[in-house]
Amino acid sequence: AMAAERALAMATCTAPVNIAVIKYWGKRDTDLILPINSSLSVTLHQDQLKTTTTAAASRDFTEDRLWLNGKEADVGHPRVQACLREVRRLARKRRGGSEDAATLSLSYKVHIASENNFPTAAGLASSAAGYACLVSALARLYGVEEELSEVARRGSGSACRSMFGGFVQWQRGERPDGTDSLALQVAPETHWPELRILVLVVSGEKKPVGSTAGMQTSVETSPLLKHRAEVVVPERLAQMMRHIRERDFEGFGQLAMRDSNQFHATCLDTFPPIFYLTDLSRHIIALAHRYNAHHGHTKVAYTFDAGPNAVIFALADTVAEFVEVLRRSFPPATNGDRFVRGLPVGSAALAAPQPQWGGSLHAVGLPGVPDLCPAPQPGPGPQLVDDPSQHLLGADGLP
Ligand code: DP6
Repeated sequence: AMAAERALAMATCTAPVNIAVIKYWGKRDTDLILPINSSLSVTLHQDQLKTTTTAAASRDFTEDRLWLNGKEADVGHPRVQACLREVRRLARKRRGGSEDAATLSLSYKVHIASENNFPTAAGLASSAAGYACLVSALARLYGVEEELSEVARRGSGSACRSMFGGFVQWQRGERPDGTDSLALQVAPETHWPELRILVLVVSGEKKPVGSTAGMQTSVETSPLLKHRAEVVVPERLAQMMRHIRERDFEGFGQLAMRDSNQFHATCLDTFPPIFYLTDLSRHIIALAHRYNAHHGHTKVAYTFDAGPNAVIFALADTVAEFVEVLRRSFPPATNGDRFVRGLPVGSAALAAPQPQWGGSLHAVGLPGVPDLCPAPQPGPGPQLVDDPSQHLLGADGLP
């Protein structure tokens, strides 16, 4: 029987980044990662931003090991361990306790290697894609096909939304054990093909206060956050679902901006206060409103997570003109023609000269990706990578 057991098994998956338009901020259970409110996000296409993860198990491995972007990292991290434990638990349940020769032994140690195709330092939501990818690769390795957003949630709250493509809701749930705190798809990525997403990299610096610590202080001290979770978000969630269903950019954009602003207001209402937006972030906000006022309706909408970088939503026919406005308003100081990356935006003539602001953007578009990707739009959920040459671990189980 020993000889028939599989000695080495390997699986590789990719997973997407997601950007919340109704923000998650605050936990009611910090261990299980249960939120105080539901949230809603758009999954970004993986042509531009993605995480790739290979998970391998072998009877020859002597310990669990983890590599992030080529460097060995702490596999004992409680959130990594929670994901590993939960996937193994589902696998055990699925097998009903019987370990036959054809299935991979759950006692084997695992090696995991994970890479982003974008710089982690850019402050983009890398933990969401990272944990969604970890859980997808482990599930594939062990042949688990159950609902997995509940497991990804144990890695990072926002990661559960990266388990689906398109437009995704994370339902807060009611149960204390978290079994109803799940992500579900509101609409597939094909639902709104004209929607475009621009990432404006304001700073590659690490944020001063991480989301996990920041939101806990907010829960403990901000009365505005309590009001937001109890009263504001339930109403907004229903409105946002309607705007998405109707592909109403005016409604979608307005509400996305308001919700981002309220999230940052709860940060200011936290004590001591937390500041994620910088002067440059605020200039981008002002520019978006000026641009919309000029056109007399909502053509662009911004949203900011726990950092200064802006994510801009627009419809495809607006991208070239708005990028030209950004070029004029924030002349690139150092990276010249690398200013716009990751998307062919074409050029647009502007009627009026643009005021220049006291700052320069590092990049518009997406950092670290080839110049001629299609403009980013909503994309699918985690994908299995079939081609064995794409594995991040070799036949010896090492990167
Ligand atoms: C501002 O999911 O990173 O991006 O659950 O503690 O890992 P943890 O936090 P995380 O928080 C994301 C917060 C946010 C808003 C959002 O993505 O909904």
